[in-house]
Amino acid sequence: MNRPLVAPSLLAADFANLQRDLELINQSEADYLHFDVMDGEFVPNISFGFPILEAVQKHCQKPLDVHLMIVNPDRYLDAFAEGGASVIHVHYEACTHLHRTLSHIRELGCQAGVALNPHTPVDGLEDVLEQIDVVLVMSVNPGFGGQSFIPHTLRKVAKLKQLVLANRSSALIEVDGGVGLNNASALLDAGADVLVAGNSVFKAHDPLEAIRQLKHSRQP
Ligand code: DX5
Ligand code: ZN
Repeated sequence: MNRPLVAPSLLAADFANLQRDLELINQSEADYLHFDVMDGEFVPNISFGFPILEAVQKHCQKPLDVHLMIVNPDRYLDAFAEGGASVIHVHYEACTHLHRTLSHIRELGCQAGVALNPHTPVDGLEDVLEQIDVVLVMSVNPGFGGQSFIPHTLRKVAKLKQLVLANRSSALIEVDGGVGLNNASALLDAGADVLVAGNSVFKAHDPLEAIRQLKHSRQP
């Protein structure tokens, strides 16, 4: 049985010690670094943008999983691809022409991700599944780290997994928000492939061990 992919979220790192935290991620079993971009409009918070991306690119050896919580993401896709993104997630709720946006992300040589807010049903993805490499299921309302996991997400992930299988899609299922060792194995049982973890990693007593445990949270 495959190990889950683990994507620690930079949002919970110590920005006064960014290089130290990035080196920690480099040494860890993490598969990606999750990079949360918030614009203060799509979500009620502002995080970071290109200057931080440049600094991260210099020191981070893991592929970047960029989560755009911004309106009109099309305006910035090229810049994030040039900035080193491996995966770019746009929000379903922020895209009028989602098919075009996802195709453009792939043309830029990145993997195309679609993020769903907790209230957004999975059914709307059926007609664009061929354009999707990964679906990012939000298990909190986006905008802040350290929130509580919304339990309904487990059913949503299971439903999405059925949709993916029924359409013979190879899209991965990623879950973001309030994820930790307490819910990781239930999420994996429901069909998740990638776990994003902010506070449960960076605020842990031993972040390297926290990543290792998430990586091994499914019994082979
Ligand atoms: C929330 C962000 C998440 C956040 C997760 O809007 O998209 O990626 O960093 O942080 P935790 O794991 O602490 O909930
Ligand atoms: Zn995120």
